[in-house]
Amino acid sequence: MVIVMSPDATPSDVDAVVARVETAGGRAFVSRGVSRVIVGLVGDVDLFASLNLSGMPGVGQVTRVSTGYKLVSREQHPDRSVVHVRGVPIGPDTLTLIAGPCAVETPEQTLAAARMAQRAGATLLRGGAFKPRTSPYAFQGLGELGLKILADVRTETGLPIVTEVLSAHEVEMVASYADMLQVGTRNMQNFTLLREVGAAGKPVMLKRGMNATIEEWLMAAEYIAQRGNLSIVLCERGIRTFETATRNTLDVSAVPVAQRLSHLPVIVDPSHSGGRRDLVLPLARAGIVAGSDGVIVDVHPDPATALCDGPQALVEEDLTDLSRTIEDLSVYMGRTNP
Ligand code: E4P
Ligand code: PEP
Repeated sequence: MVIVMSPDATPSDVDAVVARVETAGGRAFVSRGVSRVIVGLVGDVDLFASLNLSGMPGVGQVTRVSTGYKLVSREQHPDRSVVHVRGVPIGPDTLTLIAGPCAVETPEQTLAAARMAQRAGATLLRGGAFKPRTSPYAFQGLGELGLKILADVRTETGLPIVTEVLSAHEVEMVASYADMLQVGTRNMQNFTLLREVGAAGKPVMLKRGMNATIEEWLMAAEYIAQRGNLSIVLCERGIRTFETATRNTLDVSAVPVAQRLSHLPVIVDPSHSGGRRDLVLPLARAGIVAGSDGVIVDVHPDPATALCDGPQALVEEDLTDLSRTIEDLSVYMGRTNP
């Protein structure tokens, strides 16, 4: 069951609802959005129905739901949400470009990539300090040193930082540097991690598991929302198919499907899906026209020397094309580029 509080509900109205549910033996998860508070109830639905919750002050709407996700569902929150990352919006009216190096390697490389991103109109800087690598012999990232480099580059450029956290015990430390926490494809169903990032008080980018259905992806988002955090951006980054010409297959249909099922913003990652520089622009275009709320791409000042994912990193001239495409398609899609 889900309770959507009315816009004028006070904190004590919310507390009273939680108290009534908990006194009756249920559990209540409070999620605070920009304009509304949503309370998800877990327990005996028939018992909740007898509590006259809809008659309580500040309660807007009470609905029984049978899906495995409630707080992130569009049913409960008909308006699409806007997530703000240090003031940068990601949502239905904008087309946000997030760009930066796949991995933070050196201060010089990170600053050069950030400058490239900024010249292309990116308003958020991506960069991995903790890298989830298939091989344990591959570059694993600089760890906390990488986060310090990102923080310096943020000071230098003003770009807020999006960076991945790999394990639950590192969430607090990564969150102390990051403006947005990224949960990668390999960790989409790491439920302990999802709960921790949900409690970290920072916006979260949740990448779709490469083998996950859209429903599983939304249930993963629900774990974060259950901890009181509705500032979640979903990122379609390609799924595993039988095709070997590309690294993964960008599931373009996931954009409108996820947006219909959930109020959360949805963006695409054409870099990790195609895995090839020449595919980034066409995949970005496809994602944007399908309704994506933003694009996240890898860039590198010298991809030939990149320690991770060089073949998909954009260089300056690709970025100029991407930037032009975003400008043109923003107009076509009725969005602004924040
Ligand atoms: C990049 O960001 C990931 O760490 C990378 O895609 C992992 O893939 P790989 O280790 O198989 O190269
Ligand atoms: C990344 O964006 O750095 C990354 C590792 O992506 P994914 O989890 O989608 O592979």
